[in-house]
Amino acid sequence: MDSTKAKNLLSRLKSLFLETDSCLIAHYYTEGTIQDLAEASGGFVGDSLEMARFGRDCDASNLIVAGVRFMGETAKILSPNKRVFMPTLEATCSLDLACPIIEFSEFCDQHPDHTVVVYANTSAAVKARADWVVTSSIAVEVIEHLVSQGQKIIWAPDKHLGRYIEKCTGAEMLIWDGACIVHEEFKAAGVRDMQAVYQDAAVLAHPESPASVLAIADFVGSTTQIITAAKTMTNRQFIVATDFGIFHKLNRILPEKEFIVAPTAGNDATCRSCASCPWMRMNSLETLEMLLVKLAGRVASRDSNHEIEVNEIVSERAMLPLQRMLNFAARNAISVKGKA
Ligand code: 13P
Ligand code: SF4
Repeated sequence: MDSTKAKNLLSRLKSLFLETDSCLIAHYYTEGTIQDLAEASGGFVGDSLEMARFGRDCDASNLIVAGVRFMGETAKILSPNKRVFMPTLEATCSLDLACPIIEFSEFCDQHPDHTVVVYANTSAAVKARADWVVTSSIAVEVIEHLVSQGQKIIWAPDKHLGRYIEKCTGAEMLIWDGACIVHEEFKAAGVRDMQAVYQDAAVLAHPESPASVLAIADFVGSTTQIITAAKTMTNRQFIVATDFGIFHKLNRILPEKEFIVAPTAGNDATCRSCASCPWMRMNSLETLEMLLVKLAGRVASRDSNHEIEVNEIVSERAMLPLQRMLNFAARNAISVKGKA
């Protein structure tokens, strides 16, 4: 799209937000223009914990969530009286797909003496089966707290994050066998080869990456925590093991530093450089415009292509573990710690 067309589109979208009383909440993995639009239109860009908080606190009657489906569902559960829309409802997540409610519920039933802790990257039904929901920015602290109370824990669905939590906390958890198709591809050998080239570079990794990558990372944390680490660390170069969407923010706020995507290629690689979530990529300015135009035409009835619906009973039950996480975050002032 040429720059005049892009400018016109952006200004049309901004007036559509006003006209429809909508607010755009975007994840750091979405394309840069969407992140910029969210900020320029009074919306928000953040990690999944911050997106959940912002959606809950924002006054707009319509929330537009640019991210993946679990983020839209979380927003709806926390704000049942708002309408929540997404550019496309097909944007899912491999972790959510790896944890079907029936199998997961049977597994939990087999271990009734365990506290069930699930990652935010799950369906509303899985959240409703859980005692706690956590995001990557708060998972270690919540499990530390539960371990200190002597609780036995079921963790689902990300096995890499689960093992990382075990390592940080000393907990022994029953871990579900799920993984993020994006982070699982990062290769420690490739990162080491890269470190030999960029000798001053620090390695920043999202905890959904394999243990071998996390073991050589200088910092492990959520997307927001990675951005904060890049700001505070004195290195001039960073090898970053997470979706490349985050480079937009990193390059914008830290133009004097160099960010290099961690390698995903290697002997056992399934792709050469796939630090790109296919579902996050489904969010585009064009799909956003289609949605807003429909909304401006007053979609009174439910819009099955864009609107998030969560069954009321499931929603009320899922609110409890989500609320527990938000209360815990507020009590412990969790925002941007991560592990160095
Ligand atoms: P954050 O909570 O760090 O934003 O991560 C969400 C996610 O889906 C990472 O792949
Ligand atoms: Fe899910 Fe991975 Fe995409 Fe994050 S990057 S939304 S965990 S598939």
